[in-house]
Amino acid sequence: MTVASEETPSEEAPWSAWIDWSVARFGASLRLACSLSVEDTLLVDALAESAARRGLARSHAPQVFVLDTGRLHEESYRVLASLRERYDLTFDVRAPATRSLEDLVRNRGPLSFYDSVEARRECCGIRKVEPLARALDGASAWMTGQRRAQAVTRTSLLPLERDDAHRGIAKVNPLALVTDEALWAEAERRSVVIHPLHRQGYPSIGCAPCTRAVAPGEDARAGRWWWEDPAHKECGLHVARSNPQTGGKPT
Ligand code: ADX
Ligand code: SF4
Repeated sequence: MTVASEETPSEEAPWSAWIDWSVARFGASLRLACSLSVEDTLLVDALAESAARRGLARSHAPQVFVLDTGRLHEESYRVLASLRERYDLTFDVRAPATRSLEDLVRNRGPLSFYDSVEARRECCGIRKVEPLARALDGASAWMTGQRRAQAVTRTSLLPLERDDAHRGIAKVNPLALVTDEALWAEAERRSVVIHPLHRQGYPSIGCAPCTRAVAPGEDARAGRWWWEDPAHKECGLHVARSNPQTGGKPT
């Protein structure tokens, strides 16, 4: 499908314009990828509000999914439980394929991700990337909480991309241009569910064995796969994107 149209918000539009546009355009075929970080709990709140304003029942509202890698922090499951209690939305959980996971652990052990970038990507591939493809089955668009300010790998992120890795469906990143300060101000204004680890020095929330707290002033991404070069720090969820306005790769 053509992901951009005349009514598509401009790149400079406020982030909430992307929420309203996505709900109006895609309805129940929009899926929010929720890592349970503050970015994503803010998006859950905004999507629920936008759907309620339109009078959409749960079955017609966007759905939320969590990729449960099996290695998430205990606190992440508590955040998911709170979201399920608070919002009248569908919360889907995708787990890794049993056979692939059993083979991985049998052949490489439970901590293979520390061995090399390749071994780490293999684990992310089985625990996140393959389940993501299943989570997007039948979707016409997905939404993420990615922001440019998060990582050197995200400085050219666009609010709207075409996801060439998943049938060319739309990928909406409403918070692409939102700063840390604006993010937290909005999260507090709306009293969204806040992952407890954010208050313990974790700006970014991933899997427990691959995420640690950062020191004040340290790069936000420093606690993710801290043993790797920053240029490699992507798990494979966010690749193969292009600009739907130009058809070219984002610059
Ligand atoms: S990652 O690629 O390095 O793992 P990051 O943690 O920065 O990503 O999160 C960026 C976005 O990817 C999140 O806002 C969310 O949309 C999606 N995402 C990351 N991890 C998950 C997860 N476990 N389940 C669902 N979505 C996720
Ligand atoms: Fe595996 Fe770590 Fe990737 Fe989680 S973040 S899927 S534990 S390598």
